[in-house]
Amino acid sequence: LILPYDDKAHREPVIGLWRDVFGYTTARNDPALSLSKKLETGDGLLFVAVEENHVIGTIMAGYDGHRGWLYALAVRSESRGRGIGAALVRRAESELAALGCLKINLQVVAKNGGVTGFYESLGYKVEPRISMGKSI
Ligand SMILES: CC(C)(COP(=O)(O)OP(=O)(O)OC[C@H]1O[C@@H](n2cnc3c(N)ncnc32)[C@H](O)[C@@H]1OP(=O)(O)O)[C@@H](O)C(=O)NCCC(=O)NCCS
Repeated sequence: LILPYDDKAHREPVIGLWRDVFGYTTARNDPALSLSKKLETGDGLLFVAVEENHVIGTIMAGYDGHRGWLYALAVRSESRGRGIGAALVRRAESELAALGCLKINLQVVAKNGGVTGFYESLGYKVEPRISMGKSI
C-alpha cells in the first residue's frame, strides 16, 4: 500500500528507515530536517509504502515546473525484491505526470552504481550528464 506521507504516523519510522538505508552524516541530509523542509513546501510529493501498519519504503519527488526529480527511494532490506521499490517509483511518476511533468531525472551516488539496473527495468536510461552541486 502506497500512501501520502503523514507526519504524525510516519515521521519516526521514516527517520529510522532513512538512517538504516542511507546512513546520513551531513546536516543537510538529516532525516528529521529533510522531512520538515519537504513538508514546508506543501507539495504532497512524499510517499510511504506501508504493510501491516509498518513503513517499509519511501520515495520523495519534486517538480520545479521544468523537470521532475526523484529522491529518497528506500525499501527496508527485509522487504526488497517484491516489487515495492517499483511501486513507489510508479506512484511518484503518476503524481508528477498529473502535475504536467514531462521528464523525470534522478541521481545515483557513484558508489551505488549497481542500482542503475533497477531503474533501467523501469525505463530510465543513464544519460551523459555531469552532475554538479553546491551546498549553500
Ligand atoms: C533500490 C531499491 C529501492 C529497490 O527496491 P525493491 O523493492 O527491492 O525493488 P523491486 O522489488 O521493485 O525491483 C524492481 C525490479 O528491479 C530489479 N532490481 C532491483 N534491484 C536491482 C539492482 N540493484 N540491479 C538490477 N536490477 C535490480 C528487480 O529484480 C525487479 O525486476 P523484475 O521486476 O524484473 O523482477 C532497494 O534495493 C533499496 O532500498 N536500496 C537501497 C537504497 C537505494 O539504493 N536507493 C536508490 C538511491 S538512487
